[in-house]
Amino acid sequence: MKPLLISGIQPTGKLHIGNYLGMLKNAVELQNSGKYHCFYFIADYHSLTEDFSPKEKTGQILDLALDFLAAGMDPKKSTIFIQSAISSHAELALILNALTPMGELERMTQFKDKVRRQKENVNAGLFTYPTLMAADILIYKAEFVPVGEDQLQHLELTRTLARRFNNRFGKTFPEPQALLTQVPRLMSLSDPHKKMSKSEPNGCLFLDDPPKSIETKIKRAVTDSGKEIVFDPIHKPAISNLLLIYSAMSDEPVETLKEKFRNKGYAEFKKALAILLIERLSIFQKRKKSFAKTISDVKEILEVGSHKAAVHANKTLAEVKKKLGLFY
Ligand code: TRP
Repeated sequence: MKPLLISGIQPTGKLHIGNYLGMLKNAVELQNSGKYHCFYFIADYHSLTEDFSPKEKTGQILDLALDFLAAGMDPKKSTIFIQSAISSHAELALILNALTPMGELERMTQFKDKVRRQKENVNAGLFTYPTLMAADILIYKAEFVPVGEDQLQHLELTRTLARRFNNRFGKTFPEPQALLTQVPRLMSLSDPHKKMSKSEPNGCLFLDDPPKSIETKIKRAVTDSGKEIVFDPIHKPAISNLLLIYSAMSDEPVETLKEKFRNKGYAEFKKALAILLIERLSIFQKRKKSFAKTISDVKEILEVGSHKAAVHANKTLAEVKKKLGLFY
């Protein structure tokens, strides 16, 4: 039996190339490796902990499903589903909450960050975010979880909860292992000292950007003094960031690029980068458009995936309830 692998992404708006390189590309490679039973889901319940509008939410969920498929997730190879379609996630989260001391959640750095960032909306869901994430993973008895470094603390808590549950109620869950995803740290095109983020659209390359905006954004991207194309994040942060983007999108190591652009100026390099981005993104965008044309098929994929996932999830929940001494 192949081990089960699970990962989720929150539907919170347009994805940028950093999201693609950090999560989607990796998820598709893991799927195609054939080594795992891959479960990929849209973490819509998690996304309710940030400010949102119900009018936008449905669109964000479907758009993320299109991103999954356009990036190459294949319902024949992976189980693709929506978190909120499976109530067992939420029920297991409720049970795990009762087994989690407040102090363990108070320590979570992402919780502390979010409290700082959204002062007007410090809701209890933010606090219990990590137990819901643990439930997402444990409800499938998953063994592997591809995550970025920022999620390692949550995964460690998941392992702690699995161990605690097993010790107290009998062996039930494997302790899931992180498959650490190397996420290239892409910086803003307008300020190479800030992370690329959708909250600052001019410095951000979105997966849906049409060729014209890519061209403009790259043309306007700040550069460093001097004129050599070298990778030196300390002294030439802007050019180094553009090189990193080029390298990540082309799968060519930075070393090779240095050779390729030796004796070329910034303008020429930027032109090549814009062409590369337009070419790569247009493949993605074409696929996305063609899936969008048959949106009922996409909904069907999610529904079938959710049914498949529910079978696993409900089985685990029944086992857990029994071990806790509950009736139903
Ligand atoms: N917290 C993850 C993130 O923000 C998303 C997520 C929710 C997740 N549940 C998960 C990832 C379970 C892996 C497994 O990136």
